[in-house]
Amino acid sequence: MEKIRVADNNGLKLRGTVKISGAKNAVLPAIAASLLTEDSVRLDNVPLVKDVHTMLTLMKGLGAAYALDGNSLSIAMPSIVSDEASYELVRAMRASILVLGPLLARYGKATVALPGGCAIGSRPIDLHIHGLQKMGAAISLEHGYIKAEAARLHGAEVEFEKKTVTGTENLVMAAALAEGQTILRNCACEPEVTSLCELLVKMGARVESDGPDVLRIQGVRELGGATHRIIPDRIEAGTFLVAGALTQGDILVTGINPAHLETIVEKLKIAGAGIEVDQDRMRVRGSADIRPQDITTSPYPGFPTDMQAQFMVLMTQAQGTSIITETIFDRRFSHVNELMRLGASIEVSGDKAVVRGRTPLSGAEVMATDLRASASLILAGLIAGGQTVINGVEHIDRGYENIEAKLRSLGAKIERISG
Ligand code: EPZ
Repeated sequence: MEKIRVADNNGLKLRGTVKISGAKNAVLPAIAASLLTEDSVRLDNVPLVKDVHTMLTLMKGLGAAYALDGNSLSIAMPSIVSDEASYELVRAMRASILVLGPLLARYGKATVALPGGCAIGSRPIDLHIHGLQKMGAAISLEHGYIKAEAARLHGAEVEFEKKTVTGTENLVMAAALAEGQTILRNCACEPEVTSLCELLVKMGARVESDGPDVLRIQGVRELGGATHRIIPDRIEAGTFLVAGALTQGDILVTGINPAHLETIVEKLKIAGAGIEVDQDRMRVRGSADIRPQDITTSPYPGFPTDMQAQFMVLMTQAQGTSIITETIFDRRFSHVNELMRLGASIEVSGDKAVVRGRTPLSGAEVMATDLRASASLILAGLIAGGQTVINGVEHIDRGYENIEAKLRSLGAKIERISG
C-alpha cells in the first residue's frame, strides 16, 4: 500500500503558483453523457485522476472506444455491447451510477450494481430510481443489482425530495432522449451540474433553466457529438487556498473560475486570510492570526461538504472554538479521529464537530478513509511538528492530480513511499 510522508516542514510557508486541474465531479458525468450518442465527444482539461480511469474502464466495457491525449479525451459509443456496470467497478467508484440514466435513455436497459455505503455515509440512490420510474422505467433490485428497463422513457414532472448532484445529472441525461417534456424541480445547482447541461445542449439536447433550481428538458430523438472543456476543480482550488491560509503562505492559484469559489473565499476571509481575486486566478496570503468561525455545509452555493475536512484543519489553528455542522452526509467526520491523533481537540456530537483552537499539531502515522479526509491529513501534516505518514493514499489519487508534485512546487517537503 502506498503512503505519503510529510516531513517536518518546520513552520514552512507555502509560496508560489499552482495550476488547478479540471474537476473530477464535472468530467465523470461528461464521460457518462457520451453514452447518449454514437458520435465522438471531445473533452478538454480532463484531470488524470484515478476515477477518470475507472470511468473509462466502465465505459469501455459498455462498448466505448476512446483516446486520451494528455488532458484531452475523445470518446465514442458507436453501439452498446453490454449494459452492465459491475459491482467491482461501482464499489471502486460510486459515480458509476451515472451510467444508469444514459443507458436507459439510449439502450432501454441497464444493469448497475447498487453502490454500497462508503466512509462518508449511507449514500442511497432512491431519488435516482424514483425519478426514472416516473419517466417510465421498470426497475427492480436483484442480488445487489439495479435492473432497469424502458422501451422508451417518457417525460415527467419530478421534484427531488433532497438536492442530489448525481441524481439531477442522471435524470437530465435520461430526459434528454425521453419522449416529451420533463420538468425537474429542486435540482442540485452545483457548477458541475450546470456544465453537464451545457455539454448536453452542445450535443443537441433541449435543456433550459426554468427558475433557480428547476430544469425543463424537451426530449429529442438523437444527440450528436460535441467538444467541451471541463470546468476547473473548485474543491482542489479550495484545498490549496486553505493550504496557503494554514501555512501563512502566499499562493497564486491559477486556472480557476472565481465565481465557483465565492462561499469558500468568504469563509477564508473571515478566518483572516487575505484573498485577491482576478479573472482566472486568486492569490491567498495567510495570516498568523487565524480566527474561528462556525461553518454549516449545504448544497451549492452554500459551503461545500467536500471542503469540510480541509476547513476543519484550518479551524484547529484558529484562536478560539469553531462549530462545524455537516448537513449533507450522515458520517463525514472520519477524519476527526485521525486529526486527534495529530493533536487536534475536536468533539463530535451528531452532525456537529466542535473544534477548539489553537492546538499545535504533532506528526504521527494516520489512515485516510476517503478522498477529502486524505486531503485534510496532508494539510495537517504540513503544519505538524515532526513527520506525518498517511496510509490509504489510493483515496487521494481518486480526485487530486499530482498533489505531491503541486505541493512540492510550493516548497512543501512531501513524498510518496511504498511499504
Ligand atoms: C456528489 O455526490 C459528489 N460526487 C460528491 O463529491 C459530493 O460530496 C456530493 O455530490 C454532495 O455535493 C460526484 O459528483 C461524483 P448527492 P452524490 O446525491 O451525487 C442524499 C467527492 O469527494 N441522497 O448530492 O452521490 C445523500 O445521502 C464526492 O468528490 C439520497 O438520500 O451526492 C446525501 O445525504 C464525495 N437519495 C445527499 O442526498 C438519493 O437518491 C446529497 O447527496 C441521492 C442522494
